[in-house]
Order: sequence, then structure tokens, then C-alpha cells
Amino acid sequence: MRILAIESSCDETAAAVVEDGKKVISSVVSTQIEEHRLYGGVVPEIASRRHCENICAVVEQTLEQADMTIHQVDGIAVTYAPGLIGALLVGVNYAKGLALAANKPLIPTHHLRSHIAANYLAHPDLKPPFLCLVVSGGHTHLIEVKDYTDFHIIGRTRDDAAGEAYDKAARSLGFPYPGGVFMDKAAQQGNPSTYHLPKPKVEGSPYDFSFSGLKTAVINTIHNANQKGETIQKNDMAAAFQQTVCDILAGKTMKAAKEFGYTDIVIAGGVSANSGIRARFEQECRQRGYRLFIPPLSLCGDNAAMVGAQAYHEYQAGHLAGMDLNAIASLAIDISYGEMKSSR
Ligand code: KG4
Ligand code: ZN
Repeated sequence: MRILAIESSCDETAAAVVEDGKKVISSVVSTQIEEHRLYGGVVPEIASRRHCENICAVVEQTLEQADMTIHQVDGIAVTYAPGLIGALLVGVNYAKGLALAANKPLIPTHHLRSHIAANYLAHPDLKPPFLCLVVSGGHTHLIEVKDYTDFHIIGRTRDDAAGEAYDKAARSLGFPYPGGVFMDKAAQQGNPSTYHLPKPKVEGSPYDFSFSGLKTAVINTIHNANQKGETIQKNDMAAAFQQTVCDILAGKTMKAAKEFGYTDIVIAGGVSANSGIRARFEQECRQRGYRLFIPPLSLCGDNAAMVGAQAYHEYQAGHLAGMDLNAIASLAIDISYGEMKSSR
């Protein structure tokens, strides 16, 4: 089964053709990062406009690269939740138009489920059940993936997502948006022991995360240094931040693996590109004899290949949408399209 998948939940307009949820036939990602960088973050209105301008060309290029016409695809998948509502609407309406015109099944796909599914493309031997840490710009979740479309959330962030904390700490250190990757590079040159940062805990919820206190500690340290006329060692601060984030993420994931009995550990989402997190998880999993699965860097950030991978399993589970499909800004990963519809 060949699925044409469309992604427009944030600042990447993307399309891909994926076969049987495993093989990427073609994939095109058009990013708007340079433009949003001017404003220090994603401007939703600009994102929606750029998606409108780009989506036809991105889909056409994807089909061209696959050497296919729309009539040769077996289904059309689209990210319908969660994300920026105006941005999601562009992809959803475009996909609805295509599905109607070409008479194809329409497969609504959840963005975080897709991030997890990026791993099925990279690792053909990976099958649920497994424990997954999803770390992106908008979400931080520790999830039991019981089956391809069956999820149980063990823990989540109570405030900032890991990527958001990275981007805000980076901004306070003067790095461009999105700062995660700049922090990562700086951290590799720094000494993590120069600064001491707190590891915020959520009382009574051992698997929930809290990153806003960590971000604030970075901002306060910079502020105090500025007031005293001292210079902040940017690389050292980035290294301290990265080490603290790694301690928190790896600590909770390894604890959950032991308690819930998982030996297959998966990481997904934009922040899974982080070199410190990848190295720490490799080390922790090796020590325990666990198998670790991480997407290649090309599949960590937003793309449509991962949407095509998850959509295959949604289709198998009968999760299809009609022309009443709408975009949803916020939707938990453990709620299927059918459950969402019947509850509204
Ligand atoms: O998954 P993603 O592409 O978009 C969302 O669905 O949110 O994640 C984007 C996030 C941004 O916060 C970005 O700074 C972060 O991933 N990121 C990184 C790295 N590369 C991207 N964070 C830390 N280290 C990196 N190397
Ligand atoms: Zn994402």
C-alpha cells in the first residue's frame, strides 16, 4: 500500500510517499525556519501563509520524485493534530480536496504518533510493545507503545517541553532560533561542572517532567552575572544545561523501563537529534542490555515520511476520516480519531 502523506503542523511543509509503512519512496520537506528566525520563534500567521503558498509544489514534487500520479496512490494521510491550528488547517483541507478529487481514503494522523513511527522507517526490526520517550518542541512524553495505535502515557511535562526549554535557554544565551541545535554544539565544547543547575521534580508523580525551573535557573544565572559585570561561559552553561536535561530524561526513562518491564527503548521527536541525549541513552541502555532505537537525524525533525509510516497502521486499524475532518490544536496521543469524534 502506497500512502501520500502530508505534514503542516508547525513550520515545515512536507509530503512523502511511503510504502507499507516501512519504505520511503519519496520525501520533500520545505522549511520556513529562516523567516521565523527573524522573530525569535514561529509566527503562526506567517506559518499558515507559507504552507498555503508551498503545499501544491511540495506535493507535486513528492509525486514527481516517486514517479507516480495521484491516481496511483492508495490513500492520503494528513497530520490533523496537535499543532498550530492555522498551519494544520492548510494540510487538512488540501488533503481533503485531494482525497475527494481522486476518490482515495483519507487517513487522519496524530503528529506525536508519527514522530514515534519515524523509528519504524529506520529500524525494520522494531515492533511494539516498547517504551518511548517523545521529546519535541511542544511535547515531552514517556509512553508505553502497546501496539501501533495503542498508547499509554506514563509521564508528561507539567510546563515547558524539553525542546521549548532548550530554545528558551538558548535565546537567553544569545543563540538564534531554534536554539536547541546551537546549545547542543556549544555543550560539546563546554565543561558541565562550571555551573550547577537544579533538577526540578514533580512531587508525587515520578514520571512527570518539569523544565521551566531549569530554564529559569539559566536565565537567572545570566542575569546575576550581568549585574555583577561577569561574563557567562556560554559553552559551559550549555554543557551544564545539556547534562541536566540528559540526567532527567535518562533517569526517568530507565526507571520506567525497570518498573514497567521494557527492554526495547525508543526515542523520538526533534530533540532526539541531540548528541548528548543520544550518547547518554546509548550508554545507559548498553549497561542494562536494553535495545535502543533512535531515528537518523533526517527523521528526527518534522517530515511527512513519518506520517506515512504511522498512517499505514492507522489505516490497518480502520481509522479513516470523511470530509468532515477538522484540525485540532491539542489532542492527547492516546485518543484515536474515532474516540475523539464520538466524544465531541
Ligand atoms: O519535533 P520537532 O521538529 O517539532 C515539534 O513537533 O515540536 O522539534 C523541534 C524542537 C525544537 O525545540 C528544536 O530546538 C529541537 O527540537 N532540537 C534540538 C536539537 N535539534 C532540534 N534540541 C536539542 N538538541 C538538538 N540537536
Ligand atoms: Zn514535531
